[in-house]
Amino acid sequence: MFIFEDIIDLKNHLKVEKQQYSIGFVPTMGALHQGHLSLIDRAKADNDVVVCSIFVNPTQFNNVEDLKNYPKTIKEDKKLLEAHHCDVLFLPDAHTMYPVPAKTSFSFGHLEQTMEGEHRAGHFNGVALVVSKLFHLIKPHRAYFGQKDLQQFIIIHQLVQDLLFDLEVVCCPIVREDDGLAMSSRNLRLTASQRPIASKLYEALMLARHSLLEGYGVSKTKQTIQNFFNDLSDLQLEYFEVVKSATLETVDSVSDTFQVSLCIAAFLGDVRLIDNVFLFDK
Ligand code: PAJ
Repeated sequence: MFIFEDIIDLKNHLKVEKQQYSIGFVPTMGALHQGHLSLIDRAKADNDVVVCSIFVNPTQFNNVEDLKNYPKTIKEDKKLLEAHHCDVLFLPDAHTMYPVPAKTSFSFGHLEQTMEGEHRAGHFNGVALVVSKLFHLIKPHRAYFGQKDLQQFIIIHQLVQDLLFDLEVVCCPIVREDDGLAMSSRNLRLTASQRPIASKLYEALMLARHSLLEGYGVSKTKQTIQNFFNDLSDLQLEYFEVVKSATLETVDSVSDTFQVSLCIAAFLGDVRLIDNVFLFDK
């Protein structure tokens, strides 16, 4: 695996690769787990060359403590990437990605005014900024994102259309632990006693899906989920939303004429967890 910290070295290397090969790109913030690695595997299956980036992007953190506490496991990450046959790792520092403070900003309208956008001011502006920079530098044929961050995927899909990035964005399924907890780098920050409680998030999503499929309706289902969390003192529900998967618009009723996503965020101590599931298997 080639490792580049500098833009010039990365570009020189990829210039040669691009003449003959298709490039699949997986942007990450490191502390890699099976969820990230499933994106690497998918990129490897679809493309000749896989590029992964690891960069803990400061502009997408709205909370300094969260940025400071973000787990870093770079030695292990390199080993995992090697084992999954990643070809190139781009490992820039903050000055490389932000040589001057950024003044460009993005606005995604409704897409960023709900759920994660509503609770993490400026988050998607930072994500769009860094992903745009990375797309410009790497110019991949395909880029891979997880359904785990559904809203992020929808916003990046919009960004690619708006800015005519010449690439395909691919959404990959959520990889879970045996008890249903969605894998996340932030899970590393859970204590041994918090860890079993974290899977309640997935349990809530399953309860909500069952309730909707049984015909209880959106408002009754939201009440059921609120009651579920009222009984759990350790987990603080931040939001539970029922949205159209393609547009993230909230819905008052569900219909199998469009795919619906159930999206949730909660705090367990100071660790913020998010998850989502599709309502229908299609
Ligand atoms: P990060 O949280 O490291 O996630 C990198 C990619 O891995 C994202 O596309 C995310 O959705 C995906 N992912 C995380 N957990 C997953 C799981 N359990 N199953 C499947 N995919 C999973 O998302 C970011 O970094 C950043 O915002 C980034 C796009 C790199 C921009 O800084």
